[in-house]
Amino acid sequence: MRTENAPVIRLEDYEPSPFLIDRVDLDVRLHPTATRVTAALALRPNPHGRAEAPLVLDGDEVNLKGLSLDGQPLPAEAFVASPKGLTIARPPQQPFTLTIETEINPTANTKLMGLYRSNGNYCTQCEADGFRRITYFLDRPDVLAVYTTRIEADRDEAPVLLGNGNPVEAGIIEGTNRHYAVWHDPHPKPSYLFALVGGKLGKVGKSFTTMSGRNVDLGVYVEPGKEDRADYALDALERSMRWDERVFGREYDLDVFNIVAVSDFNMGAMENKGLNIFNDKYVLASSETATDTDYANIEAIIAHEYFHNWSGNRVTCRDWFQLCLKEGLTVFRDQEFSSDERSRAVHRISEVKVLRSRQFSEDAGPLAHPVRPTQYSEINNFYTATVYEKGAEVIRMLKTIIGDADFRRGMDLYFDRCDGTAATVEDFLGAFAEVTGRDLSHFSRWYAQSGTPRVTVKGDYDPKAQTYTLSFKQETPSTPGQNQKSPMVIPVALGLVAEDGKPIDAACNRVDENGVFIFEKGEDSLTFTNVTSRPVPSLFRGFSAPVKISFDLPDSDLLSLLRHDSDAFNRWQATQSLAMRILVRLSKGETVGQEEFDNLARALRAFVESDGEKDPAFAALVLSLPSESDIAQELASNIDPDAIHTARLTLRQRIGQECAAPLQGLLQSLATSGRYSPDAKSAGRRALRNVALGVIADADKALGEKLAREQFNAATNMTDQLASLSVLATIPGQAREDALAAFETQYKDEPLVLDKWFTLQAMIPESETLERVKMLMGHKAFSLSNPNRVRALVGSFSMLNQSQFNRADGAGYDLLADVVLRVDELNPQLSARLLTAFSAWRMMENTRRARAQNTLLRIRQKPDLSRDASDIVQRTLD
Ligand code: TRP
Ligand code: ZN
Repeated sequence: MRTENAPVIRLEDYEPSPFLIDRVDLDVRLHPTATRVTAALALRPNPHGRAEAPLVLDGDEVNLKGLSLDGQPLPAEAFVASPKGLTIARPPQQPFTLTIETEINPTANTKLMGLYRSNGNYCTQCEADGFRRITYFLDRPDVLAVYTTRIEADRDEAPVLLGNGNPVEAGIIEGTNRHYAVWHDPHPKPSYLFALVGGKLGKVGKSFTTMSGRNVDLGVYVEPGKEDRADYALDALERSMRWDERVFGREYDLDVFNIVAVSDFNMGAMENKGLNIFNDKYVLASSETATDTDYANIEAIIAHEYFHNWSGNRVTCRDWFQLCLKEGLTVFRDQEFSSDERSRAVHRISEVKVLRSRQFSEDAGPLAHPVRPTQYSEINNFYTATVYEKGAEVIRMLKTIIGDADFRRGMDLYFDRCDGTAATVEDFLGAFAEVTGRDLSHFSRWYAQSGTPRVTVKGDYDPKAQTYTLSFKQETPSTPGQNQKSPMVIPVALGLVAEDGKPIDAACNRVDENGVFIFEKGEDSLTFTNVTSRPVPSLFRGFSAPVKISFDLPDSDLLSLLRHDSDAFNRWQATQSLAMRILVRLSKGETVGQEEFDNLARALRAFVESDGEKDPAFAALVLSLPSESDIAQELASNIDPDAIHTARLTLRQRIGQECAAPLQGLLQSLATSGRYSPDAKSAGRRALRNVALGVIADADKALGEKLAREQFNAATNMTDQLASLSVLATIPGQAREDALAAFETQYKDEPLVLDKWFTLQAMIPESETLERVKMLMGHKAFSLSNPNRVRALVGSFSMLNQSQFNRADGAGYDLLADVVLRVDELNPQLSARLLTAFSAWRMMENTRRARAQNTLLRIRQKPDLSRDASDIVQRTLD
């Protein structure tokens, strides 16, 4: 058992670093097991830091090989060094150069932090605190330095050598088999943005001319032979650069921009200055190996990392509590980019689905924390949906409240004023307060208060007075460490719709010209005058605030919103709300009248007939029911995942019976012919056809199986092939096993495609899945050391297969625990992520809850459990 408790780091304890580093000269001699790093650090006391302080450098598994100060070797009594740090008790009080030589072993590095190897290639990951695994350093984001990096390697082992900034020199070392490259990055940056790559890589590239006419060489580096799969990423990069110039006025600032795809990576991608490193899953795409969703993710993540060049790199974070300053803002920027490149309404619905399933659940559970946390023991556990997704929603609300023009002026001021600095949330909001003259202190509560506010609404129509009154009440539930909650500033975008669909020309002076009402007290009400007929209110249009809404609109009103609302988001929401009403009651074992099923199913049928062809991508979303975990969240206690699964199946069957005929028509009329194109319009047609296939199978297994087999055999792209396979996967029998085997054979040499195959099998909602998952863990393509493989199989099983992970016998929990305990020895970030699957345990019915708790206690017992994993287990149990 762990004896020491990990130290807690608090926002209120922030102090500037006693020393600053102006320049870093690195010399890295790559070697598989003994890489030598020489770092010359130009240090000086920080005029704003504590005077006469010792110099304390961070380290993590580094071996000191040499140390000198201004060229003189430092005597042993002048410093204390261990793999975890290096302290010089009495450093000079004027500028000095400290030269540190360390040795590290990239081959033994399974944590994938610092310098490691993936498929034999060398690469780095330094955010949040990986640089200290390369050399001793002031490894904190408010220490900004100019880096020059010399990389040396064996010419055969690593013919390509890449670093941050611009290439300045390269050559071979005479008489040896080694070569080197020197890179210089003129922009001061924190250590977490450092990167280097060395290996055998193929390249696609093109040149880009910036808005001021400068030339930039763009390059995407991938495994040799896969260059043709990098074209889409390169294209997305170019579009991202153009978009940031056009929409935010932001220009790129180096002569080169490189992206490298690696196979072993803890997250999606990393925004290292001028040298983004990506999980290859978010770079490589071809129509045969990537789905439409993969293409959309690649576009979004390429954009996200590129946009960090301004929101993150040019303006970075003072400390890790400010993480949302770069992540929330950059997610907002990538969402806007995708909305502009694709369909805004469809994209907004997808964003909200992600927000609700990941962030709302996080905010309602033991891991809830504010967008800007106030304490942490392991920062890597705070790269969360709350920081990223809710952080983006906060920016979106700010824009809704102050309007587009002031938002842009505020962004410009923020970038100008904070360029080259390590900033805070206060600096960000300060820029908007200044350009608008508004006091944003009440709004800033969104950064400090955790939990999802619940807004309860009542509507009242007075036909005599021709007035309509909406009353609002808000409450935020208590969350870990926060019991007292205060009202938030909630922008409510709204409109009134007449029952017959005509827009209503009513007046209310508290709704601005964009249809937004600012709800900022605990309770408030609005009265519209001149309302000549009973209206149906459309509230939180476009999901204008990240809140839960309680509003007992009659089913018939929701149906008229589906038919008539001008806001696409609320049309979608109307059917989700109707379905949820039925699903909640079915899950609780209550009876639901035939008429209610009929009303929803017939409305969907009418919708498919009127809108299916018009906007297939939107129709595909409308036809998709809330997920099992969405339903669980709505129930919030005494959860029986089997009951939820059955409830959802029941409703799907009824919808299938009603809609199968028009959907079969759409299967024909929406068929795409000719070459595959990943564009949003073509993807939308495929999405609706594939949803249709699923709905048809829900109603008629035999027909579904027949159509799915036909599609599986005829498919010429991964989207259609995988969609048909996932329909087959839900129908037990030989056809399913044959298709799974055929798919495996077809893609045996394609790890990213096999991941889809693992995921699909892990998601089968039947009790045999547990054994299947165990067996697949022995598959030759599976490996506990590769995060994509582990997430595809075990992550999907525990996060996406509610009924089987939460088996009443506890075997699902045991499986996850066993994997977590093994993975934790290799890669603590990965084990900690997997553990978050347990965070809903308290909502389960008694048997499951007890089993989950026992499993968590068992994990906690493990000697030497990593800090990452202990932190999650501890907070989950508290
Ligand atoms: N900053 C990265 C992004 O969101 C994500 C990131 C943080 C990361 N820490 C990481 C990626 C560790 C890989 C490994 O763009
Ligand atoms: Zn990011």
